[in-house]
Amino acid sequence: MTLVPENGQATVLMRSEATRPQMGVIWVCGRQERVAIVGVYAVTGAASGMGRSTAEQLRWEGHRVIGVDLHNTDVNVDLATEEGIQTAIQGVLDSCGGRLDGAVLAAGLGPIPGKEETIARVNFNGVVRLLEGLHDVLEDAGNAKVVIFSSNSTTTTPGLPREIVDAFLARDLDKAVSLAKAAGPEASAAYVYAGSKTAVTHWMRTIGVTPEWAGKGIRVNAIAPGAVMTPLLQKQLDDPKLAPGVKSFPIPVGEFGKREEIAQWVIFMLSPAANFMCGSVVFLDGGTDAYFRADDWPRAIPQEEVPHYFELIEKYKKSVGL
Ligand SMILES: NC(=O)c1ccc[n+]([C@@H]2O[C@H](COP(=O)([O-])OP(=O)(O)OC[C@H]3O[C@@H](n4cnc5c(N)ncnc54)[C@H](O)[C@@H]3O)[C@@H](O)[C@H]2O)c1
Repeated sequence: MTLVPENGQATVLMRSEATRPQMGVIWVCGRQERVAIVGVYAVTGAASGMGRSTAEQLRWEGHRVIGVDLHNTDVNVDLATEEGIQTAIQGVLDSCGGRLDGAVLAAGLGPIPGKEETIARVNFNGVVRLLEGLHDVLEDAGNAKVVIFSSNSTTTTPGLPREIVDAFLARDLDKAVSLAKAAGPEASAAYVYAGSKTAVTHWMRTIGVTPEWAGKGIRVNAIAPGAVMTPLLQKQLDDPKLAPGVKSFPIPVGEFGKREEIAQWVIFMLSPAANFMCGSVVFLDGGTDAYFRADDWPRAIPQEEVPHYFELIEKYKKSVGL
């Protein structure tokens, strides 16, 4: 297939066997016929970049996509506002007809100075609040998949204060932004951005394994891209203050990621291949995280956390009746 180019370069993608829709059997005029089982997916950020590529690829595979974005899609809303979030939830519920097989949360902003409040709202509320509003319809699907766009800024932003992440998790976005601003104009947007992405990732891993989500068949995972060539990255490259930092940030494979390639991973994470995937964060960053943090992960459970580890085993045993 050839995708509509955003940067003037057409990209040809191969259909992947692993992500091909599952085949089912229906009876037509007394005869069995094999048909592709297609799904219904909500994709935020569907008008641009990686969300757009994901929506295009899903539609190409025969699925129905309900796009959510500021403009140029099915549900046009501002996810930075409470009203926009409520309208987005209602819009998806109205168009999905009671069936939602998955959701991709790609709408988001980059670390643009001066946009701290909007970054906080879209990157955190636009994921967490939206998903909470879609929980029940995802549960009804029986085997729904959710992919959240995190970022490798979660592990490569130096000195990100933990209190910023905690303020996001406490849903006190004003506090998160003011803590970030207190760190000075050079750091504030980067801290709000990395703080919001870290918080949604921790939220995802916390709720993702609970009876309310995993127990209801909803697999929630995150993808953590590094620098991927999209309008979001282009904006940073066009800014004389931000460009030097972006260009000097190490990418061992020597090039920016491509939005179409990231979309393929998202599709894979929505497919039956991801049935055993839950609470995972997939880094796709050309090696940046490994370059800075080679020895930090995998990491054994520290000695002082062992009692809590055994508490969790006991809790699990009780929950499954052992
Ligand atoms: N491109 C990168 O290098 C990179 C790296 C790591 C993470 N990410 C994350 O990946 C996701 C997708 O980014 P992208 O690079 O494709 O960006 P993009 O700018 O091309 O697309 C983001 C989309 O989000 C939408 N959006 C922004 N604010 C919104 C609002 N208030 N309400 C509704 N929609 C809104 C935009 O209109 C746009 O269509 C984002 O969450 C971003 O933070 C991007």
